[in-house]
Amino acid sequence: MSIAEKFVTMEYGPAPEDPKEAGAWLERHERRFGLFIDGAWQVPATGEYFDTLDPSNGEKLASVAQGSAADIDAAVRAARTASAKWRALTPHVRARYLYALARLVQKHSRLLAVLETMDNGKPIRESRDIDIPLVARHFYYHAGWAQLLDREFADHEPCGVIGQIIPWNFPLLMLAWKIAPALATGNTVVLKPAEFTPLTALAFAELCQEAGLPAVVVNIVTGDGTTGEALVKHPDVDKIAFTGSTEVGRAIRGATAASHKRLSLELGGKSPFIIFEDADLDSAVEGLVDGIWFNQGQVCCAGSRLLMQESIAETLISKIRERMGSLRIGPPLDKAIDIGAIVARVQLDRIQRMVAQGVAEGATCWQPQVALPARGFYYPPTLLSNVHPTSIVAQQEIFGPVLAAMTFRTPKEAVELANNTVYGLASCVWSENINVALHVAAQIKAGVVWVNCANLFDGACGFGGYRESGYGREGGKEGLLEYMEPKWFKHAPRLPAPIESATTAKEDATDTSTPAIDRTVKLYIGGKQARPDSGYSFEVRSTDGRLLGEAPLGNRKDIRNAVEAARKAAGWAKATAHNRAQVLYYCAENLELRRDEIIRRLAAVVSEKQAAAEVDLGIERIFSYAAWADKFDGAVHNPPFRNIAIAMNEPIGTVGVICPTDAPLLGFLSLVMPLLAVGNTVIAVPSEKYPLITGDLYQLFDTSDLPAGALNIVTGYVSQLLKTLAEHDDIDAIWCYGNDATVASAKAMSTGNLKQVWTNEGRVIDWFDPKVAEGRWLLEHATQIKNIWVPYGE
Ligand code: NAI
Repeated sequence: MSIAEKFVTMEYGPAPEDPKEAGAWLERHERRFGLFIDGAWQVPATGEYFDTLDPSNGEKLASVAQGSAADIDAAVRAARTASAKWRALTPHVRARYLYALARLVQKHSRLLAVLETMDNGKPIRESRDIDIPLVARHFYYHAGWAQLLDREFADHEPCGVIGQIIPWNFPLLMLAWKIAPALATGNTVVLKPAEFTPLTALAFAELCQEAGLPAVVVNIVTGDGTTGEALVKHPDVDKIAFTGSTEVGRAIRGATAASHKRLSLELGGKSPFIIFEDADLDSAVEGLVDGIWFNQGQVCCAGSRLLMQESIAETLISKIRERMGSLRIGPPLDKAIDIGAIVARVQLDRIQRMVAQGVAEGATCWQPQVALPARGFYYPPTLLSNVHPTSIVAQQEIFGPVLAAMTFRTPKEAVELANNTVYGLASCVWSENINVALHVAAQIKAGVVWVNCANLFDGACGFGGYRESGYGREGGKEGLLEYMEPKWFKHAPRLPAPIESATTAKEDATDTSTPAIDRTVKLYIGGKQARPDSGYSFEVRSTDGRLLGEAPLGNRKDIRNAVEAARKAAGWAKATAHNRAQVLYYCAENLELRRDEIIRRLAAVVSEKQAAAEVDLGIERIFSYAAWADKFDGAVHNPPFRNIAIAMNEPIGTVGVICPTDAPLLGFLSLVMPLLAVGNTVIAVPSEKYPLITGDLYQLFDTSDLPAGALNIVTGYVSQLLKTLAEHDDIDAIWCYGNDATVASAKAMSTGNLKQVWTNEGRVIDWFDPKVAEGRWLLEHATQIKNIWVPYGE
């Protein structure tokens, strides 16, 4: 073809990247890799190896050690031994190591990019221009935090030894997202790469050696899911950070429930890509190329559900098809390739299976007429239209280059469709009307919203999900906090084993209460006093055994009613922070008015001194959260693009709270008030020791303009109510204060919808000390951060 003809067709020839250097690196290791434990390459305990393949042609690249439980144990022990030494270094010295790693990633960027593409199948253009630069940026960003650590987080300390498990879609980038914050905060690490893509992690091990990192700060143990499982179950790991499928995330939540390991989960998604009729359609289509065809769609935050305003659907579909026709699919080392290979045969099979199922459910499938390479694992860009919102291809993660398209008419309908999955990782909104875009962005349940852009990431901007997309954030200050604990908390003693409850259930006596009984209370649901569904109540006695009254024995039905009431009160989240503050101040005022009578009653179960302190500090605590309500702001990040990222602190939703036994009033207020201050709705189970406090509380809230349903109180046995709360799919989080056994069951029972669980880890919290029992730490757990990215400039 002549040059003149090429100008007409815009056709271009192959431009392959040279794999020589990567090949030489593999040869240097004789294409066989051991485990990187204790700063050196080790032979796996079982002597077993597995092959890692080049998905672009199915050829073997190298054999890699299969780590066993014994290898994990050796790595964890090495990391533990190194922990004190690493921690003892000054933040500046740690910062220099991280800085050195960032420099080395840049220095070896070409090797790393080529290796990544060979192992994973992603286009070299992406590994070279996106993955590896972001890896370097992540280490630079965290080198900065390491430097500032002792000033900015003086009252925190590292978790200890961190187990990290990563997937195959962004192998080195996910490694950076995990290792950089862990090291910056003074932790040591055992990382397990994905079995399909271990090579760049092994190359990174060499960079650690080159940087002169203290030997055992980073340990890398390759292997499959069983290796990951051994890491999760290892008793001497303090935290697990996982990225991967929701199914495995759920298994890890279950497996860690009985331990005190901290857990962060970055799981799947089915992210909506919403295009309004006033969007710049050509830009939106380019955004979509990034959204769903980047990395062959094997992206947790892929914009895999296209929601188009009905009026533009036809035009848009034809533009998308035209663009799909110009996407080049082929050998990923070719610099002119847009779509490379699928990571493995099993993933290709899964994509094919799911698309076939979507078509069987009524979707129309369109693919451009492109020739796929004869060898390797390839799948063409695919558009599924006429997709029903309940179809498998609209609900489940395909993890392939497949877009499922649907239409909507109004912004309200767009939001409903967008939120109509169990996930909540990311979303895109395209509209030239910034008011509409931001209004919609605020309503989408997702950790990231890209306005008129797609798939932007930066170390400074936290990334992570809502709902079954997991919890915890990576990147930003919030990501850093995942790797530290407040010092006082880490060293707080454990609560003693439970004392058998002296209370007994008896048939509802509310109508025939005898004068000997001080009083009988009811449940508080939807702003009304309610009798328990069971018709039973339980006796409440003073410390000297006197019968004080009876509290209703709430059951599943009562919790269900409370959840319904809480959901109806979602308007509380939309109230202005000023309004919420006013309501809380009003509560404090009303508590003040009833101070003496509540002290008198409370003194039957705690000392008079404690009763007075609970009420007085309770008033102060409500005041504090009224003060915080309009001050717990988000942030505006400046990533290195022409974008701002607005980090908003959003309420989690409906939260079930198991209140502490030891301080019936102050414990209740200390947990419920921060949740209400930031707009959550709450179902609280008060202390079993003195549930009669409910009677005082509902009078307090009734007279304080708290909207009906924002706070619901269900008394009863914690063991029974916790189960219903934890298993309820319409509850978004559980806060559970209790002993080891109680918090373990809260975690174990919450795996269903993967709700966030925040507990005291069985530790004693001194509710009377505002330095530990009040403030940012609680507010951070009462919120989740949503980053809204907004571009600027022409
Ligand atoms: P996966 O969740 O099984 O694997 C992710 C990592 O977890 C790997 O390192 C794996 O070895 C490890 N692992 C597996 N079972 C484990 C266990 N029981 N305990 C501890 N670690 C374990 O993901 P897989 O099988 O590679 O892909 C399956 C599907 O998961 C994909 O089709 C996709 O839908 C989704 N996925 C989502 C990712 C995301 O970033 N959200 C990443 C990878 C996969």
